[in-house]
Amino acid sequence: MVPGALNHIGEWIAELATPPMVLVCADTTVAGLYADRVLASLGAAGLKAALHTFPPGDASKSLAELDRIYVKLGEMKLARDGMMVALGGGVASDLTGFAAATWMRGVRFVTCPTTLESDVDACVGGKTGINHAAGKNLVGAFHHADLVAVDPECLQTLPERDVAAGLAESVKHALIADAAFLDWHESRVEAIQAREPAVMGELIERNLRIKVGVVETDEHEQGRRALLNFGHTIGHAIEALCGYELRHGEAVALGMVAAADLSRSKGMLGDADVARIRAVLERFHLPTVVPIALEVDAVAALTLGDKKVRGGRRRWVLLDGIGCGVVREDVDEEQIRAAITMVTAGA
Ligand SMILES: NC(=O)c1ccc[n+]([C@@H]2O[C@H](COP(=O)([O-])OP(=O)(O)OC[C@H]3O[C@@H](n4cnc5c(N)ncnc54)[C@H](O)[C@@H]3O)[C@@H](O)[C@H]2O)c1
Ligand SMILES: [Zn+2]
Repeated sequence: MVPGALNHIGEWIAELATPPMVLVCADTTVAGLYADRVLASLGAAGLKAALHTFPPGDASKSLAELDRIYVKLGEMKLARDGMMVALGGGVASDLTGFAAATWMRGVRFVTCPTTLESDVDACVGGKTGINHAAGKNLVGAFHHADLVAVDPECLQTLPERDVAAGLAESVKHALIADAAFLDWHESRVEAIQAREPAVMGELIERNLRIKVGVVETDEHEQGRRALLNFGHTIGHAIEALCGYELRHGEAVALGMVAAADLSRSKGMLGDADVARIRAVLERFHLPTVVPIALEVDAVAALTLGDKKVRGGRRRWVLLDGIGCGVVREDVDEEQIRAAITMVTAGA
Protein backbone atom coordinates (compact mmCIF):
# COMPACT_ATOMS: atom_id res chain seq x y z
CA MET A 1 0.00 0.00 0.00
CA VAL A 2 1.51 3.28 -1.16
CA PRO A 3 -0.18 6.65 -1.69
CA GLY A 4 0.10 7.34 -5.42
CA ALA A 5 0.56 3.61 -6.19
CA LEU A 6 -1.32 3.95 -9.47
CA ASN A 7 1.52 6.07 -10.86
CA HIS A 8 3.96 3.20 -10.25
CA ILE A 9 1.97 0.31 -11.58
CA GLY A 10 3.95 0.15 -14.86
CA GLU A 11 7.35 -0.11 -13.19
CA TRP A 12 6.07 -2.69 -10.69
CA ILE A 13 4.62 -4.87 -13.45
CA ALA A 14 7.85 -4.53 -15.42
CA GLU A 15 9.79 -5.78 -12.37
CA LEU A 16 7.51 -8.79 -12.20
CA ALA A 17 7.29 -9.77 -15.87
CA THR A 18 7.55 -8.38 -19.37
CA PRO A 19 4.07 -8.91 -20.74
CA PRO A 20 3.89 -8.03 -24.44
CA MET A 21 0.35 -6.80 -23.88
CA VAL A 22 -1.65 -5.54 -20.91
CA LEU A 23 -5.44 -5.13 -20.79
CA VAL A 24 -6.72 -2.75 -18.12
CA CYS A 25 -10.37 -3.37 -17.18
CA ALA A 26 -12.37 -0.77 -15.29
CA ASP A 27 -15.94 0.44 -15.00
CA THR A 28 -16.64 3.68 -16.83
CA THR A 29 -16.66 5.80 -13.64
CA VAL A 30 -13.30 4.52 -12.44
CA ALA A 31 -11.86 4.67 -15.96
CA GLY A 32 -12.83 8.35 -16.14
CA LEU A 33 -11.03 9.05 -12.88
CA TYR A 34 -7.95 6.82 -12.94
CA ALA A 35 -7.35 5.04 -16.28
CA ASP A 36 -5.14 7.83 -17.69
CA ARG A 37 -2.79 7.52 -14.73
CA VAL A 38 -2.50 3.77 -15.06
CA LEU A 39 -2.10 3.82 -18.85
CA ALA A 40 0.54 6.56 -18.59
CA SER A 41 2.46 4.55 -16.02
CA LEU A 42 2.30 1.41 -18.17
CA GLY A 43 3.40 3.39 -21.23
CA ALA A 44 6.31 4.97 -19.32
CA ALA A 45 7.49 1.49 -18.40
CA GLY A 46 7.49 0.54 -22.08
CA LEU A 47 4.43 -1.72 -21.83
CA LYS A 48 1.81 -1.90 -24.57
CA ALA A 49 -1.60 -1.46 -22.97
CA ALA A 50 -5.27 -1.10 -23.86
CA LEU A 51 -8.33 -0.15 -21.84
CA HIS A 52 -11.63 -2.02 -21.66
CA THR A 53 -14.62 -0.55 -19.84
CA PHE A 54 -17.94 -1.88 -18.54
CA PRO A 55 -20.92 -0.19 -16.84
CA PRO A 56 -20.57 0.47 -13.09
CA GLY A 57 -22.44 -1.81 -10.70
CA ASP A 58 -22.81 -5.44 -9.71
CA ALA A 59 -24.92 -6.19 -12.80
CA SER A 60 -21.63 -6.14 -14.74
CA LYS A 61 -20.53 -9.34 -13.01
CA SER A 62 -22.35 -11.14 -15.82
CA LEU A 63 -21.72 -13.64 -18.60
CA ALA A 64 -22.43 -10.85 -21.10
CA GLU A 65 -19.71 -8.56 -19.71
CA LEU A 66 -17.33 -11.49 -19.36
CA ASP A 67 -17.90 -12.26 -23.03
CA ARG A 68 -17.17 -8.64 -23.98
CA ILE A 69 -13.80 -8.98 -22.23
CA TYR A 70 -13.05 -12.23 -24.10
CA VAL A 71 -13.91 -10.50 -27.39
CA LYS A 72 -11.48 -7.69 -26.52
CA LEU A 73 -8.75 -10.16 -25.50
CA GLY A 74 -9.29 -12.00 -28.77
CA GLU A 75 -9.03 -8.80 -30.82
CA MET A 76 -5.82 -7.90 -28.99
CA LYS A 77 -4.52 -11.44 -29.43
CA LEU A 78 -3.51 -11.39 -25.78
CA ALA A 79 -1.59 -14.63 -25.25
CA ARG A 80 -0.57 -16.64 -22.17
CA ASP A 81 2.25 -14.22 -21.43
CA GLY A 82 -0.14 -11.27 -21.47
CA MET A 83 -1.44 -9.60 -18.35
CA MET A 84 -4.69 -8.10 -17.13
CA VAL A 85 -5.17 -5.26 -14.68
CA ALA A 86 -8.36 -4.93 -12.61
CA LEU A 87 -8.74 -1.25 -11.85
CA GLY A 88 -11.67 -0.47 -9.55
CA GLY A 89 -13.79 -2.02 -6.85
CA GLY A 90 -14.79 -5.58 -6.13
CA VAL A 91 -16.77 -5.79 -9.36
CA ALA A 92 -13.65 -5.03 -11.41
CA SER A 93 -11.48 -7.53 -9.53
CA ASP A 94 -14.09 -10.31 -9.53
CA LEU A 95 -14.95 -9.91 -13.24
CA THR A 96 -11.43 -9.23 -14.53
CA GLY A 97 -9.94 -11.87 -12.26
CA PHE A 98 -12.35 -14.48 -13.60
CA ALA A 99 -11.56 -13.49 -17.18
CA ALA A 100 -7.85 -13.82 -16.31
CA ALA A 101 -8.44 -17.20 -14.65
CA THR A 102 -10.13 -18.60 -17.74
CA TRP A 103 -8.58 -16.87 -20.77
CA MET A 104 -6.00 -19.24 -22.28
CA ARG A 105 -6.57 -21.35 -19.12
CA GLY A 106 -5.12 -18.58 -17.01
CA VAL A 107 -3.14 -15.39 -17.50
CA ARG A 108 -1.54 -13.21 -14.85
CA PHE A 109 -3.45 -10.35 -13.36
CA VAL A 110 -2.97 -7.41 -11.06
CA THR A 111 -5.52 -5.72 -8.82
CA CYS A 112 -5.57 -1.96 -8.30
CA PRO A 113 -8.40 -1.46 -5.79
CA THR A 114 -10.13 1.92 -5.80
CA THR A 115 -12.98 1.26 -3.31
CA LEU A 116 -12.68 0.67 0.41
CA GLU A 117 -14.57 -2.60 -0.08
CA SER A 118 -11.80 -3.79 -2.36
CA ASP A 119 -8.94 -2.25 -0.32
CA VAL A 120 -9.99 -4.20 2.77
CA ASP A 121 -11.34 -7.37 1.20
CA ALA A 122 -11.86 -8.07 -2.52
CA CYS A 123 -8.33 -7.19 -3.74
CA VAL A 124 -6.78 -10.24 -2.07
CA GLY A 125 -7.69 -13.86 -1.47
CA GLY A 126 -7.95 -15.24 -5.00
CA LYS A 127 -11.73 -15.52 -5.28
CA THR A 128 -12.93 -14.36 -8.67
CA GLY A 129 -16.28 -14.79 -10.36
CA ILE A 130 -19.54 -13.53 -11.72
CA ASN A 131 -23.19 -13.67 -10.71
CA HIS A 132 -25.79 -15.95 -12.24
CA ALA A 133 -29.58 -15.98 -12.20
CA ALA A 134 -29.27 -18.87 -9.73
CA GLY A 135 -27.37 -16.72 -7.25
CA LYS A 136 -24.53 -14.33 -6.49
CA ASN A 137 -20.94 -15.35 -7.22
CA LEU A 138 -22.07 -18.81 -8.33
CA VAL A 139 -19.66 -19.04 -11.26
CA GLY A 140 -16.04 -18.47 -10.43
CA ALA A 141 -12.51 -19.67 -9.90
CA PHE A 142 -9.67 -19.31 -7.44
CA HIS A 143 -7.02 -17.22 -9.17
CA HIS A 144 -4.60 -15.10 -7.19
CA ALA A 145 -3.44 -11.69 -8.33
CA ASP A 146 0.31 -11.51 -8.97
CA LEU A 147 0.42 -8.02 -7.56
CA VAL A 148 -1.96 -5.97 -5.45
CA ALA A 149 -1.36 -2.23 -5.67
CA VAL A 150 -3.43 -0.41 -3.04
CA ASP A 151 -3.54 3.34 -3.59
CA PRO A 152 -5.38 4.83 -0.60
CA GLU A 153 -5.57 8.20 -2.37
CA CYS A 154 -8.40 6.76 -4.50
CA LEU A 155 -10.61 6.88 -1.39
CA GLN A 156 -10.76 10.64 -1.68
CA THR A 157 -13.12 10.47 -4.69
CA LEU A 158 -15.24 7.61 -3.38
CA PRO A 159 -18.91 8.46 -2.60
CA GLU A 160 -19.81 8.30 1.11
CA ARG A 161 -22.15 5.41 0.48
CA ASP A 162 -19.28 3.32 -0.87
CA VAL A 163 -17.00 4.24 2.02
CA ALA A 164 -19.73 2.95 4.37
CA ALA A 165 -20.12 -0.23 2.31
CA GLY A 166 -16.41 -0.97 2.69
CA LEU A 167 -16.61 -0.38 6.42
CA ALA A 168 -19.13 -3.22 6.71
CA GLU A 169 -16.42 -5.70 5.66
CA SER A 170 -13.97 -4.04 8.03
CA VAL A 171 -16.40 -4.47 10.94
CA LYS A 172 -16.90 -8.06 9.74
CA HIS A 173 -13.18 -8.79 10.06
CA ALA A 174 -13.16 -7.31 13.57
CA LEU A 175 -16.21 -9.34 14.61
CA ILE A 176 -14.87 -12.70 13.44
CA ALA A 177 -11.23 -12.33 14.43
CA ASP A 178 -10.19 -9.29 16.45
CA ALA A 179 -12.29 -7.82 19.27
CA ALA A 180 -9.73 -5.04 19.88
CA PHE A 181 -10.19 -3.95 16.25
CA LEU A 182 -13.89 -3.36 16.95
CA ASP A 183 -12.91 -1.02 19.83
CA TRP A 184 -10.52 0.64 17.38
CA HIS A 185 -13.38 1.35 14.96
CA GLU A 186 -15.66 2.64 17.71
CA SER A 187 -13.09 5.12 18.94
CA ARG A 188 -12.30 6.47 15.45
CA VAL A 189 -15.69 6.92 13.79
CA GLU A 190 -15.15 10.61 12.98
CA ALA A 191 -11.59 10.15 11.71
CA ILE A 192 -12.70 7.27 9.52
CA GLN A 193 -15.62 9.24 8.15
CA ALA A 194 -13.26 12.14 7.44
CA ARG A 195 -11.01 9.62 5.62
CA GLU A 196 -7.94 10.78 7.50
CA PRO A 197 -5.08 9.21 5.53
CA ALA A 198 -3.18 7.81 8.53
CA VAL A 199 -6.32 6.23 9.98
CA MET A 200 -7.41 4.81 6.63
CA GLY A 201 -3.92 3.42 6.08
CA GLU A 202 -4.03 1.61 9.41
CA LEU A 203 -7.57 0.41 8.75
CA ILE A 204 -6.59 -1.10 5.38
CA GLU A 205 -3.43 -2.73 6.74
CA ARG A 206 -5.19 -4.32 9.70
CA ASN A 207 -7.95 -5.66 7.44
CA LEU A 208 -5.55 -7.14 4.92
CA ARG A 209 -3.56 -8.78 7.72
CA ILE A 210 -6.73 -10.43 9.05
CA LYS A 211 -7.97 -11.51 5.63
CA VAL A 212 -4.62 -12.82 4.38
CA GLY A 213 -4.07 -14.56 7.73
CA VAL A 214 -7.35 -16.44 7.39
CA VAL A 215 -6.93 -17.24 3.68
CA GLU A 216 -3.39 -18.56 4.19
CA THR A 217 -4.65 -21.23 6.57
CA ASP A 218 -7.42 -22.41 4.24
CA GLU A 219 -7.13 -21.16 0.68
CA HIS A 220 -9.93 -23.25 -0.83
CA GLU A 221 -12.45 -22.78 1.97
CA GLN A 222 -12.46 -26.25 3.48
CA GLY A 223 -12.76 -24.79 6.96
CA ARG A 224 -11.62 -21.55 8.55
CA ARG A 225 -11.98 -19.38 5.43
CA ALA A 226 -15.74 -19.77 5.72
CA LEU A 227 -15.55 -17.32 8.65
CA LEU A 228 -15.02 -14.55 6.09
CA ASN A 229 -18.59 -15.23 4.97
CA PHE A 230 -19.99 -13.90 8.25
CA GLY A 231 -23.13 -11.95 7.36
CA HIS A 232 -23.06 -13.18 3.77
CA THR A 233 -25.62 -16.01 3.88
CA ILE A 234 -28.67 -13.87 4.59
CA GLY A 235 -26.79 -10.87 3.13
CA HIS A 236 -26.47 -12.45 -0.32
CA ALA A 237 -30.16 -13.40 -0.31
CA ILE A 238 -31.18 -9.83 0.55
CA GLU A 239 -28.74 -8.47 -2.04
CA ALA A 240 -30.20 -10.64 -4.80
CA LEU A 241 -33.81 -9.85 -3.83
CA CYS A 242 -33.14 -6.11 -3.81
CA GLY A 243 -32.16 -6.40 -7.46
CA TYR A 244 -28.62 -5.42 -6.53
CA GLU A 245 -29.83 -1.95 -5.59
CA LEU A 246 -28.09 -2.33 -2.28
CA ARG A 247 -24.32 -2.09 -2.17
CA HIS A 248 -22.72 -5.43 -1.34
CA GLY A 249 -21.45 -4.02 1.96
CA GLU A 250 -24.92 -2.76 2.88
CA ALA A 251 -26.36 -6.24 2.36
CA VAL A 252 -23.51 -7.66 4.46
CA ALA A 253 -24.34 -5.20 7.27
CA LEU A 254 -27.93 -6.49 7.25
CA GLY A 255 -26.74 -10.08 7.13
CA MET A 256 -24.41 -9.45 10.09
CA VAL A 257 -27.28 -8.09 12.20
CA ALA A 258 -29.28 -11.24 11.40
CA ALA A 259 -26.27 -13.49 12.13
CA ALA A 260 -25.70 -11.67 15.42
CA ASP A 261 -29.32 -12.38 16.34
CA LEU A 262 -28.81 -16.07 15.49
CA SER A 263 -25.68 -16.10 17.66
CA ARG A 264 -27.75 -14.66 20.50
CA SER A 265 -30.40 -17.34 20.05
CA LYS A 266 -27.61 -19.92 20.45
CA GLY A 267 -26.55 -18.26 23.70
CA MET A 268 -23.22 -17.13 22.25
CA LEU A 269 -23.89 -13.37 22.26
CA GLY A 270 -25.74 -11.26 24.80
CA ASP A 271 -28.29 -8.51 24.16
CA ALA A 272 -25.61 -5.89 24.75
CA ASP A 273 -23.32 -7.45 22.10
CA VAL A 274 -26.10 -7.44 19.49
CA ALA A 275 -26.97 -3.83 20.34
CA ARG A 276 -23.29 -2.90 20.06
CA ILE A 277 -22.97 -4.47 16.61
CA ARG A 278 -26.08 -2.65 15.40
CA ALA A 279 -24.84 0.62 16.89
CA VAL A 280 -21.43 0.54 15.24
CA LEU A 281 -23.00 -0.21 11.84
CA GLU A 282 -25.49 2.62 12.30
CA ARG A 283 -22.73 5.04 13.29
CA PHE A 284 -21.12 4.24 9.94
CA HIS A 285 -24.48 4.95 8.22
CA LEU A 286 -25.04 1.34 7.27
CA PRO A 287 -28.59 -0.09 7.15
CA THR A 288 -29.68 -2.45 9.93
CA VAL A 289 -33.21 -2.85 8.56
CA VAL A 290 -33.83 -3.60 4.85
CA PRO A 291 -34.94 -0.32 3.23
CA ILE A 292 -37.58 -1.97 0.99
CA ALA A 293 -40.36 -4.46 1.75
CA LEU A 294 -39.13 -8.06 1.50
CA GLU A 295 -40.95 -11.31 2.27
CA VAL A 296 -39.31 -13.36 5.03
CA ASP A 297 -40.20 -16.50 3.03
CA ALA A 298 -38.37 -15.26 -0.05
CA VAL A 299 -35.20 -14.45 1.93
CA ALA A 300 -35.36 -17.81 3.74
CA ALA A 301 -35.83 -19.71 0.44
CA LEU A 302 -32.88 -17.98 -1.22
CA THR A 303 -30.50 -18.73 1.63
CA LEU A 304 -31.10 -22.42 0.85
CA GLY A 305 -29.53 -21.81 -2.53
CA ASP A 306 -26.47 -20.19 -0.95
CA LYS A 307 -23.19 -21.96 -1.64
CA LYS A 308 -22.37 -22.26 2.04
CA VAL A 309 -24.66 -25.31 2.10
CA ARG A 310 -22.95 -28.67 2.65
CA GLY A 311 -24.74 -31.95 2.28
CA GLY A 312 -28.10 -30.20 2.34
CA ARG A 313 -27.41 -28.41 5.62
CA ARG A 314 -26.84 -24.71 5.85
CA ARG A 315 -23.57 -23.81 7.49
CA TRP A 316 -23.88 -20.66 9.54
CA VAL A 317 -21.04 -18.41 10.49
CA LEU A 318 -21.92 -17.17 13.96
CA LEU A 319 -20.10 -15.34 16.73
CA ASP A 320 -19.10 -17.03 19.95
CA GLY A 321 -18.47 -13.66 21.54
CA ILE A 322 -17.20 -10.55 19.73
CA GLY A 323 -13.97 -11.33 17.84
CA CYS A 324 -14.59 -15.06 17.61
CA GLY A 325 -16.31 -16.43 14.49
CA VAL A 326 -17.49 -20.05 14.50
CA VAL A 327 -19.23 -22.30 11.94
CA ARG A 328 -22.39 -24.06 13.15
CA GLU A 329 -24.94 -26.29 11.41
CA ASP A 330 -27.37 -26.72 14.28
CA VAL A 331 -29.51 -23.71 13.53
CA ASP A 332 -33.20 -24.39 13.14
CA GLU A 333 -35.65 -22.88 10.69
CA GLU A 334 -37.51 -20.95 13.37
CA GLN A 335 -34.36 -19.19 14.58
CA ILE A 336 -33.43 -18.34 11.00
CA ARG A 337 -36.86 -16.89 10.26
CA ALA A 338 -36.75 -14.85 13.46
CA ALA A 339 -33.36 -13.44 12.47
CA ILE A 340 -34.58 -12.57 8.97
CA THR A 341 -37.70 -10.95 10.44
CA MET A 342 -35.47 -8.80 12.64
CA VAL A 343 -33.78 -7.19 9.63
CA THR A 344 -36.70 -7.15 7.21
CA ALA A 345 -39.24 -5.68 9.60
CA GLY A 346 -37.08 -4.23 12.33
CA ALA A 347 -38.80 -6.50 14.84
N1 LIG B 1 -13.61 -11.74 -4.32
C1 LIG B 1 -13.70 -11.33 -3.08
O1 LIG B 1 -12.99 -11.80 -2.21
C2 LIG B 1 -14.69 -10.28 -2.74
C3 LIG B 1 -14.68 -9.71 -1.45
C4 LIG B 1 -15.57 -8.68 -1.17
C5 LIG B 1 -16.45 -8.25 -2.14
N2 LIG B 1 -16.45 -8.84 -3.37
C6 LIG B 1 -17.37 -8.39 -4.42
O2 LIG B 1 -17.13 -7.02 -4.65
C7 LIG B 1 -18.31 -6.42 -5.13
C8 LIG B 1 -18.55 -5.12 -4.39
O3 LIG B 1 -17.42 -4.31 -4.52
P1 LIG B 1 -17.50 -2.72 -4.51
O4 LIG B 1 -18.39 -2.28 -3.40
O5 LIG B 1 -16.11 -2.24 -4.57
O6 LIG B 1 -18.33 -2.41 -5.83
P2 LIG B 1 -17.97 -1.68 -7.22
O7 LIG B 1 -16.75 -2.25 -7.81
O8 LIG B 1 -19.21 -1.74 -8.03
O9 LIG B 1 -17.72 -0.17 -6.80
C9 LIG B 1 -18.75 0.59 -6.20
C10 LIG B 1 -18.99 1.91 -6.93
O10 LIG B 1 -17.92 2.81 -6.67
C11 LIG B 1 -17.46 3.42 -7.88
N3 LIG B 1 -16.04 3.72 -7.65
C12 LIG B 1 -15.06 2.83 -7.50
N4 LIG B 1 -13.91 3.44 -7.13
C13 LIG B 1 -14.18 4.76 -7.06
C14 LIG B 1 -13.42 5.89 -6.69
N5 LIG B 1 -12.16 5.78 -6.25
N6 LIG B 1 -14.00 7.10 -6.76
C15 LIG B 1 -15.31 7.20 -7.13
N7 LIG B 1 -16.10 6.18 -7.45
C16 LIG B 1 -15.53 4.95 -7.41
C17 LIG B 1 -17.76 2.40 -8.93
O11 LIG B 1 -17.88 3.02 -10.20
C18 LIG B 1 -19.08 1.81 -8.44
O12 LIG B 1 -20.15 2.61 -8.86
C19 LIG B 1 -19.43 -7.42 -4.94
O13 LIG B 1 -19.77 -7.99 -6.16
C20 LIG B 1 -18.82 -8.47 -4.03
O14 LIG B 1 -19.35 -9.75 -4.24
C21 LIG B 1 -15.58 -9.82 -3.67
ZN1 LIG C 1 -18.33 -9.46 1.09
